[in-house]
Amino acid sequence: MSVAASIHIQRSNTSTSVLEAAAALNDAAQVGAARQAAYQVRPMNDTHNRAPEGQAPVEALTSSVSAAPAGAQTQHGPRNVSSFAADASSDSAPSTTMSSFKQAEHKLLMIPGPIEVADDVLLSNAHPSMAHVSPDFIPVFGESIEMLRQVADAPSSQPFIIAGSGTLGWDLAAANLLEKDDDVLVLSTGYFGDSFAECIEAFGGKPKQLSAPAGSRPNLDEFASLLKEKKYKAVTITHVDTSTGILMDVPAVTNVVKSVSPDTLVILDGVCSVGSEEIHMDAWGVDFLLFASQKGIGIPPGLSLSLASPRAIQTFQKRSSPPAGFYTSWKKWLPVMKAYEGRTPAYFATPPTNLIYALHTSLKTMTQGQVSLSQRFQMHRDASKRVKKAIQDMGLEQLALPDSREDGVANGMTAVRYPKGLSAPDILPKMAQRGVVFGPGLHKDCKNEYFRIGHMGISVVDPSRGDIDTILKKLEEVLVEAGHKRA
Ligand SMILES: Cc1ncc(COP(=O)(O)O)c(C=O)c1O
Repeated sequence: MSVAASIHIQRSNTSTSVLEAAAALNDAAQVGAARQAAYQVRPMNDTHNRAPEGQAPVEALTSSVSAAPAGAQTQHGPRNVSSFAADASSDSAPSTTMSSFKQAEHKLLMIPGPIEVADDVLLSNAHPSMAHVSPDFIPVFGESIEMLRQVADAPSSQPFIIAGSGTLGWDLAAANLLEKDDDVLVLSTGYFGDSFAECIEAFGGKPKQLSAPAGSRPNLDEFASLLKEKKYKAVTITHVDTSTGILMDVPAVTNVVKSVSPDTLVILDGVCSVGSEEIHMDAWGVDFLLFASQKGIGIPPGLSLSLASPRAIQTFQKRSSPPAGFYTSWKKWLPVMKAYEGRTPAYFATPPTNLIYALHTSLKTMTQGQVSLSQRFQMHRDASKRVKKAIQDMGLEQLALPDSREDGVANGMTAVRYPKGLSAPDILPKMAQRGVVFGPGLHKDCKNEYFRIGHMGISVVDPSRGDIDTILKKLEEVLVEAGHKRA
């Protein structure tokens, strides 16, 4: 008898034992199918579970369920959306599944995003499909909105959770905060700062870039002079430019803005920093913080996350022209975010319900888990120091120039120059053969001269995984194999 057939489940089984049986088999497809089965064997006194007039009750149609092979649909009877919605609240998922599910063996993803995702987060993403207006989904969305304020330390802000990638955050900033011909001062430390400027231009804004050479930060005196010369509607900062691993000193920048041009809005790209770098949005005076799901937040790609300060919302409300977009318009999204936070549903465009379940799980761990947010940031600082020291001990150089190396480098990633005589083919495929994925260089001036290591999220916060040990050990092996000798 096949394994799948051997867990043929009788109606008398409880949900938990169904899930335990599948979890014991350590098979994602079977756990998923069993979990779905668990949702289907709710008692018939659950009013939401009644079959529509003239149809057989669900329970009668699913009195026994075989765990299906990967990719197969578990048989289930006709159900309307509200019946699933009522059954499948996040809290109704038994904790045994949460701790027992294990994702498939895979190469260790140590690029600066997407990153490794925890099993419980992946399992949340596999939640049965839910109506976005269902009473069980509403608090999941509402709490996620609230937890974003904690992660960004921004109690006064308005969060947004929208389907999209990090790039959508740039569009949100440009469409809602800028108007045609607005001047924007873009502080750039690499590819992503340059791209943000391109985005502003696409929306009719006038970006002026203050760019630093690869591996360093723009000069703050020069920045202050530019701010004095002309009125800028906004300043943009890339907290960590993922192409270089350079970390901006955000409070130092916002202090200059406050003293020289206090009306100028501060827009912070935190795609490669939120979750791995200390952030205090309110205290620092950031007006719009944009980020995404796939880096320090530790869930799969697909969510644009952002927070707007009260001043940013007022700027939006006082616009003289309509927002320069439809999907991006805060006019559409503000009522939706406020409704879900008030625990009522609202619709503008369908939210990615499964990703929001995953987000909820991850944010809950970040804000209420065993590791506090401040411990989390300290763990990232410690891991980063360890990686950077090991790189140095291996005789490798960071892309960051020496004057940035103390406090101008990211704690969630490291950009490393190839040693003399070696290049990408000597390192990256060899690492992949050993089960570790590193990222290539990305800066336009030197992309073939360095590679990038991501060290954020569970790879750092859960040291029992040994991910940092693994990458350092394998890198050393690869270097030896390539004939690299320490200087
Ligand atoms: C700093 C930064 N900003 C913006 C983006 C764009 O995000 P996405 O690729 O999710 O659209 C990235 C992507 O890596 C990034 O690192």
